[in-house]
Amino acid sequence: MCGIVGYIGDGKAKEIIIDGLKRLEYRGYDSAGIALCIDGKIETRKHVGGIENLEKIIDDKEYESNIGIGHTRWATHGAPSDVNAHPHNNEDNTVTVVHNGIIENYTELKEALIKEHGIKFRSETDSEVIAQLIGVLYDGDLHEAVNNAVKKMRGAYAIGVVCAHEPDNIIAVRKDAPLVAGIGKGCNFIASDIPALLKYVREIFLIENNETIVVTKNEIKIYDENGQTVKRDVFHVTWDADAAEKGGYPHFMLKEIHEQPKGLEDTLLRRLDKDGRIKLDGITMTKKDIESFNKIYIVACGTAYHAGLVGKYTIEKMARIPVEVDIASEFRYRDSFVDENTLFIAISQSGETLDTLAALREAKRKGARILSVVNVVGSSVARESDDVFYTWAGPEIAVASTKAYTTQLMCMYLIGLYMGYTKGVVDNEYYKAMLEELKAIPDKLRLVLKNESLISDLADRFYHREQIFFIGRGPDSGVSYEGSLKLKEISYINSFAIAAGELKHGTIALMEKGSLVFALSTQDALFEKMISNIEEIKARGAYVIGITKEGNKEIEKQSDESIYIPDCPDELTPLLTVVPLQVFSYYVAKNRGCNIDKPKNLAKSVTVE
Ligand code: M6R
Repeated sequence: MCGIVGYIGDGKAKEIIIDGLKRLEYRGYDSAGIALCIDGKIETRKHVGGIENLEKIIDDKEYESNIGIGHTRWATHGAPSDVNAHPHNNEDNTVTVVHNGIIENYTELKEALIKEHGIKFRSETDSEVIAQLIGVLYDGDLHEAVNNAVKKMRGAYAIGVVCAHEPDNIIAVRKDAPLVAGIGKGCNFIASDIPALLKYVREIFLIENNETIVVTKNEIKIYDENGQTVKRDVFHVTWDADAAEKGGYPHFMLKEIHEQPKGLEDTLLRRLDKDGRIKLDGITMTKKDIESFNKIYIVACGTAYHAGLVGKYTIEKMARIPVEVDIASEFRYRDSFVDENTLFIAISQSGETLDTLAALREAKRKGARILSVVNVVGSSVARESDDVFYTWAGPEIAVASTKAYTTQLMCMYLIGLYMGYTKGVVDNEYYKAMLEELKAIPDKLRLVLKNESLISDLADRFYHREQIFFIGRGPDSGVSYEGSLKLKEISYINSFAIAAGELKHGTIALMEKGSLVFALSTQDALFEKMISNIEEIKARGAYVIGITKEGNKEIEKQSDESIYIPDCPDELTPLLTVVPLQVFSYYVAKNRGCNIDKPKNLAKSVTVE
């Protein structure tokens, strides 16, 4: 994820900024850059790849200053490249900007800057628009130019700005993206994240939404959105660097579980236009294309495959096109029925999973249209697809996938809904209602996370079990597979998932006293069937934890314990039910003393067969 560091003071800005950027490396990035104010000019250096690439091109004694800003980029608009890396400058290189987040109306702003001011853009990024806009508005006062620019910008951002004509201050603004200011002695800092600054300072101002800061060597002034100065208490950081990287959470996995509401908001809101309808910016698939598809293959591995299992229910229901979900390592070696009327959807967090990539190539060879759902911009899967539907989970560091999964599910809903509406299968009323329900999901997920201690209590009681089952019907069966995978990969417990209707065809033989079963029962139309399944397994001595929607009190009569998720349409429950299962797995693994973020035998990205 993008990182920002800025410095002003008596020290060497280059060294301090590079050091700060290195402290943010753990978050993942694809390019890095720095801009220093040197002799009344902005000197910018940036490079694709690691910070070591950047260091090679700034290994120059003349390249030094006591004011500058730096950035590590996680590509969003435009592939990773030197030119798309930050900082971005205005046309005459007098204003330079680093930016985290997204400018939703950048196309509109860009077109106006081109039309009204003849600006020539260099990059494909939304961020360059900020630099060009401030450049156009600058009239001798950078603070005022930034304030005026911000009034025109929509979206989420933290920005740091430096101007060649004002080498004595850095201006920074926060709106829905983190920003802090570090208080030094004879120097001050800005950063997107505290770990970047811990080597130098522990006294921090936490900047709030819609605040602007003016940072000079001796002072940090904070202004609210009305331009009034704000008095802020100093926050003293007591964590060590390791804890700070994890934002105070003990593990990346738990941090990423808690980042899901934001990831879902970002994935959804970036696909909605100002009228609240789904927009497919950058996707070339037309109505004619959609009408031509007579089947869809969703192909992926691991957790991404499980997102596909839920996607099948969603897309078949919403778009009325038959969907087959396949494991990439199986698909690539079988003679599938792919032709030019097939839509092939590849799902991959990393975009580098070898089996998924090979399956994609095979489908392409047979003439399918390729749509991928990917988290890493510019990854191999993204580059080889006709169209990409990005998840906006941000970098996922824990090996066990959590926020990538829920954002992949969000994409499944948006794809299904868009295709169904375009084909006329889904009417306007359903389309609008479903989008409203999707918008409500992040807050509902926050409520689920408020029950974390209830789930961790369960984990405390059951972490020593050696065999745990997950059952469900319809979309709940897809989530069961994911719950089971989560548990086995980080806690090494032998867990097993099965569509509940299949139990009596064999697996019920394993049910006995001591078996622990999570029974996902969120589908109204299948609720009674699930109740019967629960009765059957309880009769064999199993201990059952039911998961259902608030209000389904009936479950309490049959299960030993119940977990409730907030009410929502049946189609959308997977976005919520998976979360208690993730939290349960996390605390079970913690109780068992496992290496949660890096489980044994597993890699984050599987680039071998
Ligand atoms: O990067 P991808 O989404 O293509 O990775 C696919 C699987 O390797 C991945 O989901 C894996 O199953 C996770 N470790 C599960 O938590």
